[in-house]
Order: sequence, then C-alpha cells, then structure tokens
Amino acid sequence: GHDVVSAKAIVLADSDAVARHVADFLLTEALRATGVFRVALSGGSTPKRLYAMMAEPDYAERFPWNRTEFFFGDDRFVPEDSPDSNRGMLRKTLFSRVAISTQNIHPMPDQGDPDEAARAYEAVLQAHYGSPVLRNDKPLFDVVLLGLGENGHTASLFPRQPVLEEKTRWVAPCVPDDAPHTRLTLTYPAIASSRYVLFLVTGAPKAAVYTRVRKGDPVEPASHITSDGQIEWIVDKDAAA
Ligand code: 6PG
Repeated sequence: GHDVVSAKAIVLADSDAVARHVADFLLTEALRATGVFRVALSGGSTPKRLYAMMAEPDYAERFPWNRTEFFFGDDRFVPEDSPDSNRGMLRKTLFSRVAISTQNIHPMPDQGDPDEAARAYEAVLQAHYGSPVLRNDKPLFDVVLLGLGENGHTASLFPRQPVLEEKTRWVAPCVPDDAPHTRLTLTYPAIASSRYVLFLVTGAPKAAVYTRVRKGDPVEPASHITSDGQIEWIVDKDAAA
C-alpha cells in the first residue's frame, strides 16, 4: 500500500532474516532495473547487518554496483569518523569493501550552513533525476530504506520539527529537540517519490512504536510517510510482538 497502514508487513524470525530478505530484494530489483538503479540508504544501527551482508563476496560479486546510485536518507553534521556519521558507518560496513566507484555514492554534506547544504544535496538529486518535475512516472528513487526511532522518527523527520511541514523541497535541515546534531534529511515528498519504501524494524524496544505507526498514529512522524509505489514493513518477531 501507499501508506504505512495499508502497507504489507513481512514478519521474519530475527534481524539476520530481515537483513537477508532486504539484501535479496535489493539484488533482485537492481538486476531487474533497466538503466540506473537509485537507492536511498538509512542510517543508525538496524541496517548494519544488511550492509555487512551486501559486502560479502558471494553477494557483492553479483550486485550491479556500477549502475546503482546510492543516496542517503539523512545524515548528521559530524565528522565522517564520528560514530554518529551514517557516511562513516556506510563506508566502513559496505563501501570500503566492494568494487564501487565513489561516483556512485552520494553522501550528504556534513558541515557548513545547513540550508546551503540542503540545497546542494537537492542539486545532486536533480542532477541524477534529470528533471525538476517531482512524482511523475519516473520517481526519484527505486527503493528508500527507512528505520524507525522509538520516538516515531524516521530518516531525520523528528517530532515537532518544521521539516514535517515541508511539502515541496526534497532535502531540508532538521535540528531535533530530543536527539543530538544538526542533520539533513529527505523530506516526505522526496521519500514519496519512490517505487518502494522499506521500513526495517527489529528488536523488542521497537514493538510499541511499530504498533502505533502501523495504526497510523498521527503523532508519530513515520505515520505520515507515503510512497507513490509500495511501502513494506520488514520486521522481526520481537518488533512485531
Ligand atoms: C539515522 C536513521 C534513523 C534511524 C532510527 C532508528 O540516521 O539514524 O535514519 O532514522 O533509522 O533512528 O535507529 P536504529 O536503527 O539505530 O534503532
């Protein structure tokens, strides 16, 4: 379904099974894509297992790295070697281990004036998208990976932040009042311009927020995620309990 309530939920045994399912999905879709395959990657800890799996030789030698463009769902204004940097985490867990050109990886700016940085990343998206027209038959992304925070945030769409009201720009700054760091994040309209949005949710601590978002609780920023394509929940038993 196009929204989080009508979205299909796939409940798997554990986080390894979630990672394997998403890795297989990405490989299948990348091989099926005619031309460039565009993915927006999520940060945090949940997807680390997935990225490690994608770096394993028998997977990495099959993945079409040179016709895939990797974008970021969000990142924090911290140095790359900070443990809070999604750019650093992805370099360590995936990109430094596979035969991919840096031209195919598009990290978000992680310093400077946040508004200028947001516009700079928007220009990167436009350069790859080729048209300022959003949401026509060619979405910005083939697949957007998202996580889910316990306060209902996803990407860096945090409760009570102005970015939740952004209806046109694709990238915007966000300074949460309940989490560290200035961040850049894809906005709701950017995430909506996708063929698939996959929420990866694992672990018992996420069970409560997962239940609230699955019901579409409007208080939770993740509840307002839509896709022009399909949203799917890929969760483990502990999160779905
Ligand atoms: C990030 C993610 C963020 C994350 C949630 C869940 O940059 O951290 O985009 O939205 O998905 O905070 O984080 P965990 O996977 O670490 O629980």
